[in-house]
Amino acid sequence: MSDATAAVKDATEVTMRYVDRDGAEREVTANVGESLMTVATGNKVLGIDGDCGGNCACGTCHVLIESQVALTLNPPDAVERELLEFIGSDASKGYRLGCQVTVTRALADAKITVATT
Ligand code: FES
Repeated sequence: MSDATAAVKDATEVTMRYVDRDGAEREVTANVGESLMTVATGNKVLGIDGDCGGNCACGTCHVLIESQVALTLNPPDAVERELLEFIGSDASKGYRLGCQVTVTRALADAKITVATT
């Protein structure tokens, strides 16, 4: 294993790109294990509120994860799917509730867009 490969494998932080509800994009560094919602609220990403505190009950953490990355993540559970359907969203297109997605190395450099639906 090269030093570079080992560094990525052992990384405890990843940098992602958030696009806020106004279309502004910026890089945000997150700890592996945090949720996309807590990363967004901690970095004041416009359009992510996390009103229910991550309890999968409000939908104010609704994001679109670029599709090739979304396919590598754990799929939404029944509760998340139900809320996504309620707000008219489609998980198969990469829409997720940010509070239900844990940051992993697979999200390095991924684009996370605040969903407007
Ligand atoms: S923070 Fe309420 S559903 Fe995610």
